[in-house]
Amino acid sequence: MKIKTVMVAGAGQMGSGIAQVCAMHGYAVILHDLKEEFVERGRQAIAGQLQKLVKKRRIAVTDMEQYLGRIHSSVQLKNAQKADIVIEAAVENIEIKKNLFAQLDELAAEHTILATNTSSLPITEIAAATKRSEKVIGMHFMNPVPVMKLVEIIRGLATAEDVYRLVREMAVSLEKTPVEVNDFPGFVSNRILMPMINEAIYTVYEGVASPEDVDQVMKLGMNHPMGPLALADFIGLDTCLSIMETLHSGFGDDKYRPCPLLRKYVKAGWLGKKTGRGFYTYD
Ligand code: CAA
Repeated sequence: MKIKTVMVAGAGQMGSGIAQVCAMHGYAVILHDLKEEFVERGRQAIAGQLQKLVKKRRIAVTDMEQYLGRIHSSVQLKNAQKADIVIEAAVENIEIKKNLFAQLDELAAEHTILATNTSSLPITEIAAATKRSEKVIGMHFMNPVPVMKLVEIIRGLATAEDVYRLVREMAVSLEKTPVEVNDFPGFVSNRILMPMINEAIYTVYEGVASPEDVDQVMKLGMNHPMGPLALADFIGLDTCLSIMETLHSGFGDDKYRPCPLLRKYVKAGWLGKKTGRGFYTYD
């Protein structure tokens, strides 16, 4: 089998980034979400990113038009039938993902691979919601998808070898570097990144330093491109909290306890860049 058509289920920050990269590398893309306005917002974000590349003279206007022409909008999940692979990029909620995978299993063609871009939820459990667990796999992209080179590829307990190979080949075709990871909470990326972000939030919570100073320490002292609190705002504080909760419950160890300040911000609706306020404010 050759992967030619990709459905990206979820047109948010990650989904639109994945759709953009797939379209730029020759795949036909079905960009799916629950409502037309969500899909349209994703398309606008992609168009905006491509326009920036045109301005920088990295791509021609005709390239941009070709890439956008490869992206088809969808609000009907049954369009999954046309896809060789579905990459799910919905919210980080195990019940929502299990429900979505059960539906995709019913609707997609027999050969279709069902991949999830989950940042920490168990692939094996998501796979168990389908009758094709050998075709379910984790394909975890990093944000911003067009820039970041890594894709973690996570096998569930039953993932077939040829499915792993096809997904790995696809990641390479997208000019990403795949890294194979086993199905443990947070995989590798978030098991290491999120406790650092959580600890940065604790330092603010305990009055050790201001958010600006915490970020300055990590940028100037450790050469991180962004401080952990700016990065948390960028990822989304709701996503950070749900990943910490997955680590906390998955390992049963208090070292992963989400900082109360993180919980408070999420309850306040201060979710970071996407809502205009997190540890910083945004226009
Ligand atoms: N989409 C597409 N391209 C973007 C972008 C975006 N959202 N943001 C920045 N870029 C591009 C810029 O256009 C620029 O491209 P060129 O160099 O080709 O001109 C390049 O990235 C650098 O951007 P800037 O000069 O504006 O700013 P910067 O040098 O500070 O880089 C950054 C921005 C790439 C985001 C950098 O700050 C960085 O690497 N930050 C850390 C990102 C990170 O850690 N991501 C992982 C998050 S964790 C995750 O995603 C997993 C999870 O499950 C939660």
